[in-house]
Amino acid sequence: MMIDDNAQILRIYKDYNGLCTATAKEIAEQLQRKTDSVLGLPTGKTPMGVYQELIRMHREEDLDFSKATTFNLDEYLGLSPQHALSYGHFMEVHFFSQVNLQRKNIHLLNGMADNPEVECREFDAAIERAGGIDLMLLGIGRNGHIGFNEPQSSLTLATHVARLDDSTRDLYAGEFGSREKVPEQALAMGVLPIFKSRRILLAANGSAKKKVIGEMLSGKVDTLLPASLLQLHGNLTVLVDAEAAPE
Ligand code: PGA
Repeated sequence: MMIDDNAQILRIYKDYNGLCTATAKEIAEQLQRKTDSVLGLPTGKTPMGVYQELIRMHREEDLDFSKATTFNLDEYLGLSPQHALSYGHFMEVHFFSQVNLQRKNIHLLNGMADNPEVECREFDAAIERAGGIDLMLLGIGRNGHIGFNEPQSSLTLATHVARLDDSTRDLYAGEFGSREKVPEQALAMGVLPIFKSRRILLAANGSAKKKVIGEMLSGKVDTLLPASLLQLHGNLTVLVDAEAAPE
């Protein structure tokens, strides 16, 4: 349920379920308007409920992904899609295996590419060939990262090999067993293909995201808070639950 729709950019929902239902509805409406939509997709805890709702809509309401194309935001360098902690594996388990996307239309950065730089260039070229991204779904890191565009004095426009922030590696230490085991680098969709997306939805839930959501919408732009750049995008909606809603 929406409890505040005063702000154009920010929409606040009562809880995680409400947030996920509304976010999935936006994606479904995009697909219904344009069946061959190009979607940008994230991994992480936040979108899991969104994927569950999209799967439900696919099963119960015939939401059709057969003409859609997807590009995922990132992948750990050195992990194959078979690795249980790779983002390729995450997407397979939580989404791709449960909807009717065509394999040829799914684009994942290959963490095992012989030449990661070439892999990144080809990924950007594939986004261009697809006509750019119609709808980009993003999460946000507590440090303000979008995908693995981590806080830095300058940001890289093109898709690139990115170094993970220490704070990011600390957060994922639990999953990998220790911080040392978290890959140091990832292939990351750059800020330009993200920014060129015709519509951007950024979803966040929980009190741990409250501070960064307030900062990203502060009216200031700072590459040390990459998500703040999105304020310049003309078609951004930030969807949060009550716990992540800024003051
Ligand atoms: P999370 O990750 O959804 O697991 O919080 C978001 C992100 O780091 O972009």
